[in-house]
Amino acid sequence: MNEAQEETKRTYWVRTFGCQMNLHDSEKIENLLHHNGFRPAAAQDEAELVLINTCSIREKAENRLYTDLGLLRDWKSASPNRVLGVGGCVAQQEGDALLRRFSHLDFVFGTHNLRLVPTMADAARRGQRSARTEEHASLDRFELPARHPDFAGRGNGHAFVTVMEGCDMFCTFCIVPRTRGREISRPAASIVEEVANLARRGVREITLLGQTVNAYGRHDARRSQSEAAGTVPFAALVRQLSAVPGIERIRYTSPHPIFFDADLVAAHAEVEALCPHVHLPVQSGSDAVLAQMRRRYTCEEYLRRVDALRAARPDIAITTDLIVGFPGETDTDFRATLDLMQRVGFVDSFSFKYSPRPGTQAVELGDVPPPDVAQARLAELQELQRELTLAHHRARVGQETVVRVEGESHRRGGKSVYGRDPYHRVVNIPGELAPGLFAEVRIVEATPHSLIGEAISPKTAAAA
Ligand code: SAH
Ligand code: SF4
Ligand code: F3S
Repeated sequence: MNEAQEETKRTYWVRTFGCQMNLHDSEKIENLLHHNGFRPAAAQDEAELVLINTCSIREKAENRLYTDLGLLRDWKSASPNRVLGVGGCVAQQEGDALLRRFSHLDFVFGTHNLRLVPTMADAARRGQRSARTEEHASLDRFELPARHPDFAGRGNGHAFVTVMEGCDMFCTFCIVPRTRGREISRPAASIVEEVANLARRGVREITLLGQTVNAYGRHDARRSQSEAAGTVPFAALVRQLSAVPGIERIRYTSPHPIFFDADLVAAHAEVEALCPHVHLPVQSGSDAVLAQMRRRYTCEEYLRRVDALRAARPDIAITTDLIVGFPGETDTDFRATLDLMQRVGFVDSFSFKYSPRPGTQAVELGDVPPPDVAQARLAELQELQRELTLAHHRARVGQETVVRVEGESHRRGGKSVYGRDPYHRVVNIPGELAPGLFAEVRIVEATPHSLIGEAISPKTAAAA
């Protein structure tokens, strides 16, 4: 970087809402900003560029953007050099309507246009407001620069890796196919190369990302284009990545039940690096509701996959997503969901009240249960989950496990750190251990939300 560029170095702050794809997109944006001479600000108030990476999955998530934008009015008006941008799923959904609605907003970038952020930020400083939300069907958007040396990331031995993007499933309640566009899969060779580079930098655990991650390469396979596109079946990709030297743990999120094939089940039995945890969203335990959601499986089909996974890997931890209060959901449907939760014995779940999203088919499906009924169902479901989780956690007491340390935890009574075990459970460990360390621990206590472990000995000392 020459001196002239050095002088114009600006500071940024990114606020991120939503899922892991959004978190990872924010990392990609931050990396791009580093390559363009930006550096992180010490606090949001001190930044010259503030970006909000938004989520639109439920109305509440979308509303957080509007609250944030309101709060940033004063920040923006305090200096003419300040630039405010909005990206992510609400940006994709609303486009330039956001510019019209919020006069202090400078630019809007869609989920396929991360690469434009530095240019749009520069233009905004010259007074040009813009919105870019066009969709790109090419693989170009995956071609992002390698990590900038000054962009250390979180440095705790873990990295997200995008394998596919978009969703063509169109579940009737879901906005994602409209905010993330059509499914597209990266060539396996470029994923392997990225993972090898990460491993050389000290990354030992990766999470493969995609809106329906195990649909990886499916369109290429159906068109007999896999070879030309460089894609392979998802389980084969997992196997390739497990051979990358230095990679000790592989996770993936979120798989869709209908693409959970025998090959992926077998990988859970055979691939040592593949963690014994699957987050497999089921949404409902009622076949009638599942059909209205257009999930394309029945409860029995879901349970068959769970049984196959358990046969392959008896200790596997299964977590899920659940929706209550879907249009037409009766009390009997809801009881069926509770029943399914018991039958599977979910280790944990994310549960939500159905939220109508613009342009989705479920909006036309008719009456939703009254809000107090939906609220009571959610509370009952969450109470059951609390019991199931606690039972799983109690069964772990006395066991030994390995925790990748993520950072310091905020617990009363002395220093402690937290991390995740292979089953993706949060384990708190009293004492000081460096982030990135794989620590051997013995579980000594169970709480409804996490486990408490005592360090036996650090497995290796090398933190990323
Ligand atoms: N691709 C994943 C889900 C991604 S969205 C899958 O198919 O399983 C994450 C979760 O948000 C969903 O699993 C669902 O439980 C919830 N969700 C999505 N749309 C919703 C809506 N309109 N109202 C309430 N919850 C919703
Ligand atoms: Fe949404 Fe369904 Fe796609 Fe998941 S599979 S992202 S729930 S449309
Ligand atoms: Fe939200 Fe978009 Fe993810 S809607 S959940 S940020 S794909």
